[in-house]
Amino acid sequence: MQHPATGALNGQVQRNGVEPVRVGVIGVGNMGQHHTRVLSLLKDVELVGVSDVNVERGLDTAGKYRVRFFEAYQDLVSNVDAVCIAVPTLLHHSVGMHCLQAGVHVLIEKPIAANIAEAESLVNAAAETNCMLQVGHIERFNPAFQELSKVLKGEEILALEAHRMSPYTNRANDVSVVLDLMIHDIDLLLELAGSPVTRLTASGSRASDSGQLDYVTATLGFASGIVATLTASKVTHRKIRQISAHCRNSLTEADFLNHEILIHRKTTANYRTDYGQVLYRQDGLIEKVHTSNIEPLHAELEHFVACVRGGEQPSVGGEQALKALRLASLIEHMALDGTVGQLEESAPMLQGSSAVMV
Ligand SMILES: NC(=O)c1ccc[n+]([C@@H]2O[C@H](COP(=O)([O-])OP(=O)(O)OC[C@H]3O[C@@H](n4cnc5c(N)ncnc54)[C@H](O)[C@@H]3O)[C@@H](O)[C@H]2O)c1
Repeated sequence: MQHPATGALNGQVQRNGVEPVRVGVIGVGNMGQHHTRVLSLLKDVELVGVSDVNVERGLDTAGKYRVRFFEAYQDLVSNVDAVCIAVPTLLHHSVGMHCLQAGVHVLIEKPIAANIAEAESLVNAAAETNCMLQVGHIERFNPAFQELSKVLKGEEILALEAHRMSPYTNRANDVSVVLDLMIHDIDLLLELAGSPVTRLTASGSRASDSGQLDYVTATLGFASGIVATLTASKVTHRKIRQISAHCRNSLTEADFLNHEILIHRKTTANYRTDYGQVLYRQDGLIEKVHTSNIEPLHAELEHFVACVRGGEQPSVGGEQALKALRLASLIEHMALDGTVGQLEESAPMLQGSSAVMV
């Protein structure tokens, strides 16, 4: 099918190979500011402009990067090959659909949409218009995750543990902590486990005035036998971003904030007596894995631009993001009322009351 904006086949930007890809940013709040900054640094990219309904913020950002400001995002869309969409999650669907139907490639922030029906229609629209749809699961591009994946390739994983906690702020309170924070780890754990989820329990609480769940713990069982626990919080007095992998021969701990990985091996514990005193002794080997310090957003946006140019498929496309959203939706339901909610919508392969296949 011919690409509506570029005239290219297969949705690839095939303007003259040396011409920059023309990109715009829709929504320049917390996250959109970072997209704008990084895009302004990328080679082979022309940052055409930004759009925001907050005119003051939009003009300020446009001025800082010397690009055009568009009060209506529809006007920006007609001037670009691709957009980064960083508007509140509840607007992902309407803004994303407009961009895809205009034939523009889309990187949309996570979660792909506020519900499964909206996410499915974005995925279908991308397929129908031959446009790239990448979703901002930025942790896939975190050097700590990339190294963790490599380390775990040779290991037999028994259990995975993810913790993602933050102090309370007023941001992203249009959705629960599952869609705001846990969705990152849901995507990462699905990728690491590489097996369908067959068991799920979750509990949560509303600890702030937002009306949303802001502390949730979920336990998953995968068909492969791996078990996983995920905890996400918006009400914890310390920022934590960690995944631990308990394996047959090692324990690997990845810290996504300082891009650090520690591998513990051959731990032995024993007691010995010393002149009648019982002493406890634990020995082990700890390896520290060096990771690059590339900014994950930089890697994510470079990947997006490469996809738009036609060389690669997004590593986190609409389908993968939809899979993460399906599981997030089940966790939310379970945490809210102890059931998995609208099963036919989110878990078509449901096998029992607490058994799901995602
Ligand atoms: N990948 C990550 O790590 C990460 C981190 C933070 C936020 N996010 C995601 O980014 C998205 C935005 O979150 P945020 O924290 O930046 O929110 P925010 O409220 O700070 O920014 C959203 C911006 O969108 C603007 N906006 C609203 N409607 C618009 C419209 N119709 N057209 C143009 N602009 C419009 C708002 O004025 C605001 O400036 C959310 O989906 C969130 O989940 C992702």
